[in-house]
Amino acid sequence: MLPEARAHTPGHRYNPLVMLWLKAFHIVFLVTWFAGLFYLPRLFIYHVATPDAPGRARFVVMERRLFAIMSIGALFTVLFGAAMVTTAPALLATHWMHAKLPLVALLVGYHAWAYRLMLALRTGTASHSQRWYRWFNEVPGVLLLAIVLLAVLKP
Ligand code: HEM
Repeated sequence: MLPEARAHTPGHRYNPLVMLWLKAFHIVFLVTWFAGLFYLPRLFIYHVATPDAPGRARFVVMERRLFAIMSIGALFTVLFGAAMVTTAPALLATHWMHAKLPLVALLVGYHAWAYRLMLALRTGTASHSQRWYRWFNEVPGVLLLAIVLLAVLKP
């Protein structure tokens, strides 16, 4: 048994190895999710800068495929997170989890917002500038920093 699994996680009536497996997959899927959260708004920036219709059509396809992959990442990040709190329910009483979950909710909101922006670009109704998408692109980095610091340092 790995001692750090005991040290950091309250409520010890579970197999710590199960928790570590769940955590490993939680991390694999959050990397997949963030690959998309970082790159989809980049595609939006290039998309609005593209004047020709065939070029824009290519971005529509790339955005749709990336969005599908990142949505799978989001779903399984949340499912493995939920599996961990089901395994060790005492985690739900920790301060860091109380701070983390609202930030995760913001991240899901950002994901949904990115979906709406993608649809607007697809239908030609997007009204934002390249500069605006650049700012939009900064948001996931800030949330990632905050969530990872909370999850790792567990203040
Ligand atoms: C509903 C969504 C989520 C739930 C319920 C959840 C829950 C959890 C739980 C229970 C753990 C294990 C804590 C422990 O070691 O005892 C964990 C670990 C972790 N989570 Fe999440 N999580 C969620 C979303 C996220 C997101 C979106 C990120 C990244 C932005 C993230 C990053 C991490 C990291 C890096 C760890 C490893 C921490 C460590 O080993 O010290 N989680 N999460």
